[in-house]
Amino acid sequence: MKKWYAVIGDPIKQSMSPSMHEAWFDEESIDAAYIPIHVTEDRLREAVEGLKNLGCSGFNVTVPHKSAIIPFLNQLDSSARQMNAVNTVHVLEDGTLVGSNTDGKGFVRSLEVACGEQCKDKKVLVIGAGGAARGIAFALHSAGYGPIFFTNRTLEKAVQLATELSDSAVLSVAEAELSLAEFGLIVQTTSVGMNFSQQGMPLNPENMSEGTVVADIIYNPLETAFLAEARKRGASTMNGVGMFVHQGALAFETWTEVRPETGFMIDKITTTLG
Ligand code: ATR
Repeated sequence: MKKWYAVIGDPIKQSMSPSMHEAWFDEESIDAAYIPIHVTEDRLREAVEGLKNLGCSGFNVTVPHKSAIIPFLNQLDSSARQMNAVNTVHVLEDGTLVGSNTDGKGFVRSLEVACGEQCKDKKVLVIGAGGAARGIAFALHSAGYGPIFFTNRTLEKAVQLATELSDSAVLSVAEAELSLAEFGLIVQTTSVGMNFSQQGMPLNPENMSEGTVVADIIYNPLETAFLAEARKRGASTMNGVGMFVHQGALAFETWTEVRPETGFMIDKITTTLG
């Protein structure tokens, strides 16, 4: 039987995962399909059962189900446990549902491609303290980056994250703004600047120094106001397309044991969004 995969979320229309995975299946000559499924929160349990019973081999999970899905799965890998969130489910032959989270590792892979080893040993500032910040900070730490400093509008959330991650600390937004030049790598994980709906910047970039690597996980728009300011100040910037593609590639690898080509996909998505 032809294998099939899916992505579930609410909303789901905007998801670029189907076209990405379908293109990779074509590229790798794998006879499989990947479909978007709109699943509301009240139907999550039934949807997971349905996917399993209908022979789905694996699926991605997007907003708002990344944490809510956990009780309906059989196993979690260490990444999903650490983040308390799942973006990839592998349905094993015997029906066991295994959850993992490729978001953080996807970010680190995209950083490695963009920056090589050059970003290691730099002081890292993570802006934000939500789910994305957590995933990225833990993955950066596991890959040997750091020390990591968190700053966030709601400081208590940053304090909480820092208590969970060794070799990390917290700065208020004002402190981070003043000491911005000390950081070699700045990672913007908040939703400020997304889809042009949240205007503005998460902090004042005035003191950013030339040569800093600044990553924003937002990919729509391709360049947030924060990233544009960083670029004007001589920083090397990267948007969220790389993270999106690499998190998908890691899911694809989990399901098929094939490592898909990421470079052409980044170009393709950049063109689509441009
Ligand atoms: P995600 O899973 O994408 O990280 P999240 O867990 O809801 O989403 O976290 C959103 C992050 O964006 C938080 O760090 C949030 O700051 P608060 O903890 O203070 O809410 C940040 N954020 C959202 N809107 C913001 C805004 N207008 N200004 C500054 N930070 C904002």
